[in-house]
Amino acid sequence: MTDLATLEAEITAQIAAAGDVAAIEAVRVSALGKSGSVSALLKTLGAMSPEERKERGAQINAVRDRVQTALAEKKAALETAELDARLASETLDLTLPAPYRRKGSVHPTMQTMDEMVSIFAEMGFAVAEGPDIEDDFHNFTALNFPEKHPAREMHDTFFFNPKETGERMLLRTHTSPVQVRTMLNQKPPIRIIAPGRTYRCDSDATHTPMFHQVEGLVIDKAIHMGHLKWTLETFLARFFETDAVTTRFRPHHFPFTEPSAETDVGCDRSGGEIKIGTGSDWLEILGCGMVHPNVLKACGIDPDEYQGFAFGMGVDRLGMLKYGMPDLRDMFASDSRWLGHYGFSAFSAPNLASGLS
Ligand code: DAH
Repeated sequence: MTDLATLEAEITAQIAAAGDVAAIEAVRVSALGKSGSVSALLKTLGAMSPEERKERGAQINAVRDRVQTALAEKKAALETAELDARLASETLDLTLPAPYRRKGSVHPTMQTMDEMVSIFAEMGFAVAEGPDIEDDFHNFTALNFPEKHPAREMHDTFFFNPKETGERMLLRTHTSPVQVRTMLNQKPPIRIIAPGRTYRCDSDATHTPMFHQVEGLVIDKAIHMGHLKWTLETFLARFFETDAVTTRFRPHHFPFTEPSAETDVGCDRSGGEIKIGTGSDWLEILGCGMVHPNVLKACGIDPDEYQGFAFGMGVDRLGMLKYGMPDLRDMFASDSRWLGHYGFSAFSAPNLASGLS
């Protein structure tokens, strides 16, 4: 037997003996790999005379081709055998009881929004809506944000690419543009809330790029801050399902209200969790104020005849407070275990007669 025939017989025996795909790969490397036995023979061709090389080269290549084919066939056979073995062992018993199937639930944000809407509806507020994609006029200009004023940047606005006209649309940074749309389309008296999605380029434990707000607007003759205070206190007591709440109005600045205030609600933090309606601590909960005369004018309402109040609050934040969820980002992570735990039954719509939550 020539040395070549011996080598081929050896490799063929190794292929036959290989018991799994890893063993076949080891045989391939030892024969055809860079420093394999067949490759080593091919390297000897360089030192031969042309005639010798032609004859010997053809013989070595023929061996290499046969070895390659044998390797591929054995590998395919082993893979089929491995798959058959897996299919035989991984059986599914269809007679076993079905596993627990998670049911859909109402998201805590939607539940909170429904609760807020039902409380305000009972107080005589209608629900108004506006688009998520807004223009500069409704989101800023009509709300008395001065042109090129840093307050516009403060909102971390998501802008779209400019149109051919140069106008840049944006994702509304608050629900306040719905005030503008309502006043432009409706004569006073006005009493609306505007629940909806809002967007800012911000993300941490208490901020997400998309969140929800409820805006409120009341316009009539002889409206004053006393009405605002009563409305908010009544709402907060009902929302937190306590007899009464205490509030504190801190002077603040919003371009669209004058005077403006941030409202804190009295709470107790002593037990490690926040309890609303008792205690001597304060928790900031919303922004509000008397609608600025410039906003009324921009919306075609005479500020000498009408005035009103407005407020805006974060829905997700209020939901977290009421239902004890620590991280805002979880609200939008779509984790079905979280939704199963914090979600609400679709069959118990909140209303003041049968209870909110
Ligand atoms: N738009 C404000 C914000 O997103 C919230 C707000 C404050 C709304 C005062 C109002 C208001 O209507 O009067 O930060």
